[in-house]
Amino acid sequence: MSQDFLLLVKNAKQLVLICDGGETFLTKHGMKNVRVMENGSVVVGRDGLIKAVGPSETIKAQYSHASFQKEIDATGMCVLPGLVDAHTHPVWAGDRVHEFAMKLAGASYMDVHRAGGGIHFTVEHTQAANASDLLASLRGRLDRMLRAGTTLVECKSGYGLELQTELKMLRVIEEARKSLDVNISATYCGAHAVPRGKTVAEATDDILQVQLPRLKEEMSAGTLRVDNIDVFCERGVFDLDATRSILQAGKDLGLKINFHGDELHPMNSAQLGAELGALAISHLEEVTDEGIAAMATAQTAAVLLPTTAYILRLPQPRARDMIDAGVIVALGSDFNPNAYCCSMPIVMHLACVNMRMSMPEALAAATINAAYALGRSHTHGSLEVGKHGDLVLLNAPRWEHLIYQVGGHQEVIRYVIIKGNVV
Ligand code: NIG
Ligand code: FE
Repeated sequence: MSQDFLLLVKNAKQLVLICDGGETFLTKHGMKNVRVMENGSVVVGRDGLIKAVGPSETIKAQYSHASFQKEIDATGMCVLPGLVDAHTHPVWAGDRVHEFAMKLAGASYMDVHRAGGGIHFTVEHTQAANASDLLASLRGRLDRMLRAGTTLVECKSGYGLELQTELKMLRVIEEARKSLDVNISATYCGAHAVPRGKTVAEATDDILQVQLPRLKEEMSAGTLRVDNIDVFCERGVFDLDATRSILQAGKDLGLKINFHGDELHPMNSAQLGAELGALAISHLEEVTDEGIAAMATAQTAAVLLPTTAYILRLPQPRARDMIDAGVIVALGSDFNPNAYCCSMPIVMHLACVNMRMSMPEALAAATINAAYALGRSHTHGSLEVGKHGDLVLLNAPRWEHLIYQVGGHQEVIRYVIIKGNVV
């Protein structure tokens, strides 16, 4: 006999509610809305959506006659919304451990890139790799992310830089979306670097005339689902005009704009993103005051990537200035061969220590705001009735242990739940 409901999580020591309802309360004000309920319960329905969140006694009374497929007694545990990673590059072959040594010895990211390493090195290996090997490694990486509490993750292409490899990467992401539990938001990032031997104009032309038209065909045929478009807007990579034309073309196909900007040099990427109605811009280590103001007005989320600033010893992104200006600040791991980190708890830890965010701010940035950056905050990112039953249960008496214990999430995370199923 089928049960009335999929899951009851009861008697949690702390339930971390990031809310006050809705999807756009995410700024300075929203970040203050991380609310902790002592002794709470959550009910997830058979459709995988949250049916009730509240004090254990109330839920117990309301559901006294209901049957549940699974019950978890969370006495002594904390329940949080599943974490959302708003920026990753998880499909690639070949690692770059040798470049880590070069960077430690003083080479900058662009020194390595210009010498033919960096993204170019990964492109060469990814072009040569077959799809099943790429899928196998992607599965492993997504599994590590899931174990660290990530239940919704953005996944970019961008190590192809030509049609066939970009399609291969997007198909691998599509296959992962269909076969794995974790929720995926797919991003076409064909403009991640200018292919060797090509000019910016030639690379832009290939994207506009060859890659995007094919993507359009695949999307209308239903063979590929792509959610977002990305460009690496940077000096020596794609300039502002090329970035504008590629992002606009993607927007015309119905893709959400979510791109790399103002990372190594101030490029006015933030202003461009605001002008184009971008949903999110990542990095922003070099954003100007004008850029921050433009993003606040346009409600364009800032996806900050503390691992990258840390590894490349860049100036820290100005999280405090952004929050004070009313920018929606989100976080991402930036998992890629340069920033080899699958763990949003570590990302939150770095955001707190290096970017001076509070723990509630970091949690909001790694849940509801990251979901906003992916256009998913109406369905993900908080414990609210009607949203996906994606939860993280901690074996800890206070939720802050998730951030406090550096790299300790293996010990702290007891269950990861997606749409009401323990995964
Ligand atoms: O977000 N900055 C551009 N892209 C990536 C790095 C990709 C790579 O180095 O392979 C980033 O950090
Ligand atoms: Fe990136």
